[in-house]
Amino acid sequence: MTPRGIDDGLVVARHRTAMVRHHLSQPMSLLVRTGVVRPGVSVFDYGCGQGDDLRGLIAAGVEASGWDPHFAPDAVIAPAEIVNLGFVLNVIEDERERSTALERAWTLAGRALVVSVMIAGAVPVDGLKPFRDGYLTSRGTFQKYYQQDELRKIVAHATGSEPVALAPGIFVAFRRPEDEQEFLLERRRGRRASTAAYASARPRASQSTAPVHERIQGPLEAIAAFALDRGRMPHADELPSEVHDRLAQERVGLSRAVATATDVIDEDAFHSAAASRREDLLVHQALNVLNRTRSASRPGASIVRDIRHHFGSQQQFAEQALEYLHALADPSRTAEAMVRSAGKGLGALDEDGRLVIDGDRVEQLEGVLRCYYGCAAFFVGELGQEYIARLDPVRRQVSLFRVEDRRSPFPIMTGSVTIDLKRQNVIMRDDRRVLARKADVYGLSARSRQRDEERKRRAAEGWADERVLIRL
Ligand SMILES: C[S@@+](CC[C@H](N)C(=O)[O-])C[C@H]1O[C@@H](n2cnc3c(N)ncnc32)[C@H](O)[C@@H]1O
Repeated sequence: MTPRGIDDGLVVARHRTAMVRHHLSQPMSLLVRTGVVRPGVSVFDYGCGQGDDLRGLIAAGVEASGWDPHFAPDAVIAPAEIVNLGFVLNVIEDERERSTALERAWTLAGRALVVSVMIAGAVPVDGLKPFRDGYLTSRGTFQKYYQQDELRKIVAHATGSEPVALAPGIFVAFRRPEDEQEFLLERRRGRRASTAAYASARPRASQSTAPVHERIQGPLEAIAAFALDRGRMPHADELPSEVHDRLAQERVGLSRAVATATDVIDEDAFHSAAASRREDLLVHQALNVLNRTRSASRPGASIVRDIRHHFGSQQQFAEQALEYLHALADPSRTAEAMVRSAGKGLGALDEDGRLVIDGDRVEQLEGVLRCYYGCAAFFVGELGQEYIARLDPVRRQVSLFRVEDRRSPFPIMTGSVTIDLKRQNVIMRDDRRVLARKADVYGLSARSRQRDEERKRRAAEGWADERVLIRL
């Protein structure tokens, strides 16, 4: 295959779009962070460019290979559990060839295909020459900028499955509903239960069980980690084979190991893990309904066990999740939750009654607000960068402001994404402005001192308010 597309007498130098990467690309790093890609999972990078993602994955012990028409034309095109089609479609000027690439990538994907493109609004297009449905750049390359929903539809059409938004311009399509459900639940989960409680309890084991503890320390840690993550004890098939091997070596049965672990797990931590898991499952189910997630009817065995354990039955679970949905439909209940949240120091209410909160604290919000935020995450996925979120239930909008150097007194806002839930629309802006840090958003108590600092800096630099501040 030729790396160049010859079109209307024009030669489009597609390969020139491939950059040297010193870190994993955004889609690959999102896959790693969400646990989709990890050692033991095979990856194929379709249109791998200079192959830097592959080198990074291989160095971390992931079985990875790739192909590229320019950089690796002789590489074997092989099926893998996860296939990445990263920033390839947007450099192809021929629409039919885009479809072929997408369809081919999907046939290779055993479990999931992740597709990323450049998104409209993320970079300025002034000075670029319009060409077909995109632009020609001064370097002789082609770039098409997609709308988020346009990409969703293309991926849905090619894969026959409704893809999940990972981030603006990045979708993942799963082949099996169970895999999608596992992924969604993990992503929607806010808090991770800590294993610290177990670590501190372990040395205080009673004398009579001490020898067993010592001999099966590894399995006990694995069991405790599961218990403090899920709020219940594991079944045999939920533990890795090394745990079983070690127990067999030590001639300790699984039920004895579980009973021993139960003795040393901190009870409060276990109950709080159970409460977190219950809420996570409810938020997950409410979002499944809201987002009409097709895979919802086919959760994996492990989620089914969680539901039975924490709710008794699927029906009771469904009824409780409905409660969340009713609360969402009632703006006063959302507003009350926002007031409670701000009262606890989780974000601040602005003068229009909107809740403004640091992105990494969103997961600590009450379930109903996490559902509200989750509706927006459904459209854009993750920003992969620090951000401030603003929830506006009256206008039914969620805005995410990307920030750089959040800890500085005057972080830089590098752009924003507004999700209009009523119109189901995503609006991206790439305006770079200085953000006046609001002490209460950042959880600082010295609010007036912060304001003073803002005033002084504005005076010193001669900033006009509107030019340098975003009104949070
Ligand atoms: C912007 S680069 C992305 C490279 C890599 N995936 C990354 O994220 O770093 C686009 C790559 O797509 C490759 N490409 C062009 N046409 C293609 C096609 N029809 N199928 C697969 N890859 C193609 C180009 O050779 C180029 O290396």
